This record gives sequence, structure tokens and C-alpha cells, in this order.
Amino acid sequence: MKPCIRILLPFYPSFVPTNFSKFEWFNHKFHTSSSRVLGFKSIFNHSGKAISAQSSTSGQARILSGNNLNNRGYYVVATVPSNVRNFSKSVETRVNNQNFEKIYVQGGLNVKPLVPGNIDLDETLPTNDGDGAQVIEGGYGVNEENSNLAVVVKANKKESEVEKEAWRLLRNAVVTYCNSPIGTVAANDPNDKMPLNYDQVFIRDFVPSALAFLLKGEGEIVRNFLLHTMQLQSWEKTVDCYSPGQGLMPASFKVRTVALDDNKFEEVLDPDFGESAIGRVAPVDSGLWWIILLRAYGKITGDYTLQDRVDIQTGMKLVLNLCLSDGFDMFPSLLVTDGSCMIDRRMGIHGHPLEIQALFYSALRCSREMLTLDDGSKNLVRAINNRLSALSFHIREYYWVDLKKINEIYRYKTEEYSTDATNKFNIYPEQIPHWLMDWIPEKGGYLIGNLQPGHMDFRFFTLGNLWSIVSSLGTPKHNEAILNLIEAKWDDLIGQMPLKICYPALESEEWRIITGSDPKNTPWSYHNGGSWPALLWQFTLACMKMGRMDFAKKAIELAEKRLPVDHWPEYYDTRNGKFIGKQSRLYQTWSIAGFLASKMLLENPEMASLLFWEEDYDLLETCVCVLSNSSRKKCSRSAAKSQILV
Ligand code: GLC
Repeated sequence: MKPCIRILLPFYPSFVPTNFSKFEWFNHKFHTSSSRVLGFKSIFNHSGKAISAQSSTSGQARILSGNNLNNRGYYVVATVPSNVRNFSKSVETRVNNQNFEKIYVQGGLNVKPLVPGNIDLDETLPTNDGDGAQVIEGGYGVNEENSNLAVVVKANKKESEVEKEAWRLLRNAVVTYCNSPIGTVAANDPNDKMPLNYDQVFIRDFVPSALAFLLKGEGEIVRNFLLHTMQLQSWEKTVDCYSPGQGLMPASFKVRTVALDDNKFEEVLDPDFGESAIGRVAPVDSGLWWIILLRAYGKITGDYTLQDRVDIQTGMKLVLNLCLSDGFDMFPSLLVTDGSCMIDRRMGIHGHPLEIQALFYSALRCSREMLTLDDGSKNLVRAINNRLSALSFHIREYYWVDLKKINEIYRYKTEEYSTDATNKFNIYPEQIPHWLMDWIPEKGGYLIGNLQPGHMDFRFFTLGNLWSIVSSLGTPKHNEAILNLIEAKWDDLIGQMPLKICYPALESEEWRIITGSDPKNTPWSYHNGGSWPALLWQFTLACMKMGRMDFAKKAIELAEKRLPVDHWPEYYDTRNGKFIGKQSRLYQTWSIAGFLASKMLLENPEMASLLFWEEDYDLLETCVCVLSNSSRKKCSRSAAKSQILV
């Protein structure tokens, strides 16, 4: 069934003067100088003429509406910030005086305008009429006429009872918007009287649901999700009168039903950019996951029309702009505040946490593949390549630890002033924690959790390490060594429930100081060393990439035995994941979907291979310093290169 109203990027005709960006034009068109009006929205008819301006949902300016007033294709145009932000010129400075407007909007201006026909959510969905991906039983088939389609999904083998139950639960978690599926709620426990925000669709939580649906051959929900979340990206968002950056994606959103005057109701999307979240944490990972999922959608369905759309291309560029903009950073890694990813509470992961770097790296690799190449994007692509190369060098060189490296740090000289210092970040050897000396195995190693001036966070963070394998942020040797470490430390990292979110837990004074005495993050609970079944699919993917299917199978078997009995908890507590977590939700959707996605990936290695990346040797050759003529720049990379190439 068609959604009642299409709410995609504002109608943006080709006659817009070329000195207007999309947002400027939009702002110019719909906002008078005093029109930062809450509750304002415009409804257009086909000719693009505004027919209504006053919303009944006063006070909900940031809500996207799926208004039911008219079913014949009116566009409900979202209120956009009236104070159009002065876009950062950061990419400009990095990419040789190209102006932002050109980078971001060129190619969007004189292209096909977003007209009724081509913004219909359903119209370009893959169908089985021979055009695009063919949906066959068990998934998308190869359509020989369409070489875009790279994959064959094996016909579904008979599902186990546990899988059947998981599918039933996953389908029950689906949220619809204007009669179309748009995402899944975070948790769906019928006995939970205080769902807090677990009744919302979280961007990061939806990724395993999306994969399960895609692998099942059901692309519609993913396509709708990608389109609608992209819309929310440009929404007005404020925290105490301050507006976060334009490309920010929300952490989550909720579909609300709002009463209209005439006894009718409309559905609206209400995003949370962190302004309601506990601790007001910034959802930095959302935009990165969105890009990663966009690529996965194209790869698995063979429907590349979505990523080629002008609005989607613009959405991608906005995320990239936010990530690539200049700040005070001294490193190519992304600088973020605490709790800006899956660990969304204070856990001492501010600065340059590994998880964000791994997602950033793979989002850059995805974007490079998906950006439509034209004059307006070539500088952006150049900026992406430079960043990828600098970032992978930085992480491989400075985040990697194994027995040998720890011994080196143990013998570090400190207070080295100069550009060729060995101990560049002035790490005092006393920082090496006692647990690590005993814990680090002979064979294996890992990427540390965070690196700052004078500070290495030696905790093992699972998602960051797994995603470094998947995205090839680590070298092939690193990737193998990380899995060797997981094998050697199986009881600590997998234990009775895969997988530990980080190891070890912060205890005593450290817990008090670093978490701020957080009672939810007590030692070996929740984010502080709890075990999260939601990490199973990333583990499966990493194992498959490295040819270690046996590991993945072993972990999935553990999960399959316990998860249904325990009602699919969000997380487990204790050193080896023995107990259901103290405050764990039950029927947590990404625990369910992560399990299903893992099973399906394992059964479809060809599909899994579409979701990971191999080493990019060209990137390793690119070094910005070599390209620069400045003699002041001293490149420490050439020396270290031999070490990191393999
Ligand atoms: C918790 C988790 C976060 C997740 C959310 C919804 O806040 O820390 O990663 O997205 O719950 O499940």
C-alpha cells in the first residue's frame, strides 16, 4: 500500500538561481524574516503552490508529518531552520579552494528536479517485473539482464524453531508510517510499563534488522528507513537554543499520531538528536551507520537508484561535511564527546574512540563508492581519499598493541620534544595497566580504545575492533591477530554470551571517576563490561571475512541456546555473561535481529562478502605529505610504512 503522503526533500526546482544552496533557497522561499515559527508547515499541490501554512501541531516544529489530509500527492514540506547555518568551508580549505556550494550543491542544481513522479517512495522499489532486482523466494535473484545484480541468495533452508520465533518477534517490532514499514522499535516487551525511549526506532539498532530483512529479500522497509531518516537529517534541532550541525542524523525517531481539528489524525515523525537523550549525548555514529546501510542496500538488492538520487547524494554529502570539517584537531581521527556511539553514556570514551574511527573509516569508503562523480564532487572525493589514507596510517601506527608493542611502550623515553619523537604522545609507561601485562597473549593483539595526548586507553572495545576487521582499517595481519586474541581470550570476551562490549570493566575509583559513579554502568554490567548479543552479527561478519567460520558458529550456537529461553535480553552481566543484565530490556530487537542476521550471513557467504572490504593498496600509497611541496612538513609515514603495509 502506498504511504499516505510523501515527505521527501523539499520541492527544489531547477529554476532556483545558482547562487542559492538548497537550504538557502528553501529558507528564502518559506520563511519571512520573523518566521522561525513553531508548528509552521507548508502543504503543496502538484504545481508546487503552497496551499496551507498553519499546522495544527503547533509547538512541534521539528516533527515531520505524514499528514492524512489529502491522499493525492501533496508534499508536506518540513519547517527548516530559518537561521540557515553558514556552512563550514572546511572541505573547501582541504580541497583546494573549491567553494562549499560547488562541492555540495553542484550537480544538485541543474539536475532533474524532485518532482512528484520521482520522489514517490514506492516507485523505484525493486520489483519482480524484470526491472531491477528480482525478488525470488529466499531473496533477490540474479537478473541476467541487469548486471548490477551481483548476488544470489540461497533458497531459504528450513528455519529452526528459534529462527521462526525470532522472525515473528522481529516482524512484531516493525513500525509503520503512513501504512508503510519504516523501521523497528528498540525493544518490544509487552510487560514493560516504562519503555522510556525503547519504543523508538534507533538508527544504529535498525542496522541488523535491515540486514535481516535485506537478506530475506524484503527491501522496502530499508528503503523507506533510509529515505525518511535522510529527511530528518535536515530537521531543525536545538539544545537550549543551540543548533547542532546540519548533517547530524538523529539517534532515534518515533512515529506519533497527532489529532487534527476535524476529528482526523495525522502521523508525524519525531526525531531525537540527543536533545531528549539521557546525558544529551551526540549521536555521531547515526550518520555513519546510515551511509554504511545505504551501501549495503544497494549491494544486496542491486537497486542502485536509491543511492543515485539527488536528495540521497546531498544527504550523504551533509554527513561528510560534518565529519570532514576543520576543527582544532591534530589527528585525522574524528574528535567526539563521550557517549557518541553505541556506548551512549559517560564511559571515558570522549576524544578519539576506536568505534567511531572504524565507522568513520568505513563510511568514507562507502561514500567514495557511492558518490556520483562530477565536477562538484571530485574535490570531496579527493578529501575523502586523503582522510582515508591519513586515518588508516594513524590507527595502524598508534592504536595497535601486541606483546612486542607493549614492551616497547614499557621502555618508552618520555618528554621527547621534536618531530621525530618515538613516543609522540608522551605516554608514561606507568600507564600500562597491570591487567594488560598478564592478559596480552603471545599470539594476537588489538587496537586500543582511544588515544589522546598523554593518554592511551588500553581497554579492548569489541565493536571498534570487529569493525576494523570488517572495513580493513587494520592491516591483514592486524585483522588476523585480533581474532587470535579473541580465541585466546574466549572466556573473557565471549564467555557464556557473545560478546563483551569492552574488557575489562572499570572498577572502584576508576569507575567512580570515569563513569561519574553511574549505577547503571557498575563493573561488569551494561556498557561497563556487560555482554551484548547485538554484537553477534559484526563478529560473524569479521569471522567470515577472515575465514574463521568455526568461531562464528560456536558463538551463534551459544546465543541460540540462551537467547530464546531468556526472552532475548538486551545485555548480560558478570565477568563471563552469566546473568541477564540488571536493568536489561527483554525482547530487545537488535538482539533478535543480530541473531537472525548472523545465521543468514553464515548461510550466504556471497552476501556476507558484499558487506566487507579488502585492503585498498592505492590508499596506502597516497600520502598527503608527499603530495605537498612544503619543506616544513616532515613525514614520519614513509619510515613506518613498511611496517604497516602488511
Ligand atoms: C541503549 C544503548 C544504545 C542503544 C539504545 C537502544 O541506550 O546503549 O546503544 O541504541 O539503548 O537500544
